[in-house]
Amino acid sequence: MFLTSSLADQPKPKQYEELLSQARGLFEGETNPIANAANLAALVMHSLPELNWAGFYFFDGTELVLGPFQGKPACLRIPLDRGVCGAAARTRTTQLVPDVHAFPGHIACDAASRSEIVVPLLHQNQLVGVWDVDSPVADRFDAEDQAGMQSLCGLFLQTLHVSVPLVQYQKT
Ligand code: SME
Repeated sequence: MFLTSSLADQPKPKQYEELLSQARGLFEGETNPIANAANLAALVMHSLPELNWAGFYFFDGTELVLGPFQGKPACLRIPLDRGVCGAAARTRTTQLVPDVHAFPGHIACDAASRSEIVVPLLHQNQLVGVWDVDSPVADRFDAEDQAGMQSLCGLFLQTLHVSVPLVQYQKT
C-alpha cells in the first residue's frame, strides 16, 4: 500500500522535493507509461493543495488525446491550435496561466478552474503530450510550481527510455 498525504503545510520547494522522491518510488520497476502516468496524476492530485484536475494528454500525431488523470471527466481531444494545452504542445513551452478566463481559446473542462499550468512532454525531441494541472484558485501556480512540475515531468519522461513506447497513441 502506498500512502499519500497532503503536503499543504510544506513550503513549495519541499513539496516538490517530496513529490519527486515519492514519484521515483512509484515508478521504480514499472515500465508501462500508462501505469506510471496514472500514478503520477493520483500522487499530485492527492498531495498538493488547491487542485481540481491533474493529468495527461498524449499526442497522437495530429491532436492531443486524453490520458490518465484525476478530476472531473474532461474533453477527449484537443487540437494543437486550441486551449492552453494546445499552446504548450505547439510552442513546446510551459504555459503558466494565472487567470484562465483571460487566456484566449482556453477550454473550460471544469467550470471551477481558475488557473492552470501545462508542461509539454518531449521525448527525444518528439512531442509526446502534455501534463496539465488546474486549480480553482486564481494565480495558484508560480515559478516554483513550474520548476517542480517540470522536474516531475522529466522523471516521468525518463521512464520512457526503458518502457514500451506510447505507440498505441500514434495514428498509423
Ligand atoms: N483547460 C485546458 C483543457 C483541458 S482541461 O483543463 C482538463 C485547455 O485550455 O487546454
